[in-house]
Amino acid sequence: MKTESSPANSSRRGFIKTTALTGIGLYVLPAFTFGSHAEAEKVRIALIGVGGRGRGHLRNLMNRDDILVPAVCDIDPEAIQKTQSMMKKAGYEQPEIYTGNDHAYLKLLERDDIDGVVIATPWLWHTRMAVDTMKAGKYAGVEVSAANTLEECWDLVNTYEETGSPAMILENVCYRRDVMAVLNMVRQDVFGELIHARCGYRHDLQGVKFNPGVEFGEGARGEARWRTQHSLHRDADLYPTHGVGPIATMMDINRGNRFESLTSHSTKSRGLHNYIIKHPEGGPGHKNAKIKWELGDVVTTQINTAKGETILVTHDTNLPRPYSLNFEVQGEKGITDFDQHTRRIYIEGSTEKHGWDDMEGDGSWLEKYDHPLWKKYGEYASGSGHGGMDFFVIHAFVESVKRKVAPPLDAYDAAAWSAITPLSEKSIAEGNAPQYFPDFTRGQWIKRKPVFAFGDEF
Ligand SMILES: NC(=O)c1ccc[n+]([C@@H]2O[C@H](COP(=O)([O-])OP(=O)(O)OC[C@H]3O[C@@H](n4cnc5c(N)ncnc54)[C@H](O)[C@@H]3O)[C@@H](O)[C@H]2O)c1
Repeated sequence: MKTESSPANSSRRGFIKTTALTGIGLYVLPAFTFGSHAEAEKVRIALIGVGGRGRGHLRNLMNRDDILVPAVCDIDPEAIQKTQSMMKKAGYEQPEIYTGNDHAYLKLLERDDIDGVVIATPWLWHTRMAVDTMKAGKYAGVEVSAANTLEECWDLVNTYEETGSPAMILENVCYRRDVMAVLNMVRQDVFGELIHARCGYRHDLQGVKFNPGVEFGEGARGEARWRTQHSLHRDADLYPTHGVGPIATMMDINRGNRFESLTSHSTKSRGLHNYIIKHPEGGPGHKNAKIKWELGDVVTTQINTAKGETILVTHDTNLPRPYSLNFEVQGEKGITDFDQHTRRIYIEGSTEKHGWDDMEGDGSWLEKYDHPLWKKYGEYASGSGHGGMDFFVIHAFVESVKRKVAPPLDAYDAAAWSAITPLSEKSIAEGNAPQYFPDFTRGQWIKRKPVFAFGDEF
């Protein structure tokens, strides 16, 4: 197994430099024009939720020359204040602010000068805000996951079908540079017919779930205000889409293929308790040390697809560990195994028998199969957050709104991917019993054609 200091890794070039960065970067982007638009032709995007993620999207929106941001909604005065000063600093016109209560966003949606809405609020608000946005006749761009229950998954699909207003799930990892290169390889038949994939969200969130110290819930900061409650009450894969979204695009889910069933397994829960008792502001006597956490530390889910592939999905956010989405894509001819630190491939006849080939470096696999979108926008995108992928997801949303076309990731994707949470919860509760995905496309998956990331436009 290669490590960070192995020769293969030290020979990395630009390809990976842009993908390995995490967090929100410096946003000093080279000039790029998205079309010289008269004020009246610009796309008008509003934001609901301008915490960490919403402001990241806002920055990418403000970097474009085809966007106006007429309105912003948040219930947190600090988030509003940070947004206003960010926009002022960028020389951007101040938006109208909607705030004061949890339903202030409904007033924002009454405006008739908004084309699309980016929703980056806590999970329990996603579906209802996306549904209300579609009902108001606007494009909804909703953060991940898009829904919490099967009923909410259906709400997304039904509202889209009733209103004709699209909802795009803003799954940025579908646009990660190495992920898109592997998608390109899949489409160019490098692996042959796909057989199996592995993915997951393996991210130590101890310091996110508690902030400050070992506090969470009301009075806490950032995601500790709301995300931690889910670990308290739900034993499930709480955050499946970063892993499953990219694999779904490779396996044509909802477009010639679909998720059919899953079984899930959950371990005991130790990580969050251990964090509380070891933390200098916590300890065995702290009130939170008595909590019994519902979420198992490692939740694994095995999905069956209609075309006979399996997908192993892991959710692992409570234990100390390095970040990894743990991708593996395997077909009749070979396999790739890649995450933030190691990217390797084995293709029968092309690589040494029983050995891994490094996917990176000069003239490497990743360079050869670099996706046309990355070839075109890579330099521009690389400063946009999460190694560049944040640019692409917003770009796809904005271009869909601008051209009045269906977004490349839609309500059916949002529903099928998000359904893993309630289905995994039920499987675990029923002793790992199989659960069956509703066919959110109502049979249309048989004839729907793949649309994600063909060409170099969006
Ligand atoms: N795709 C990614 O890489 C990525 C990264 C981070 C977060 N996220 C997702 O983005 C979403 C937001 O995460 P975050 O880290 O910004 O969280 P956050 O807590 O920093 O921000 C959420 C914001 O929503 C606001 N809010 C809450 N209820 C509201 C309401 N009823 N009306 C208006 N505003 C409301 C909060 O005041 C807060 O400012 C989550 O769904 C998260 O999973 C995705």
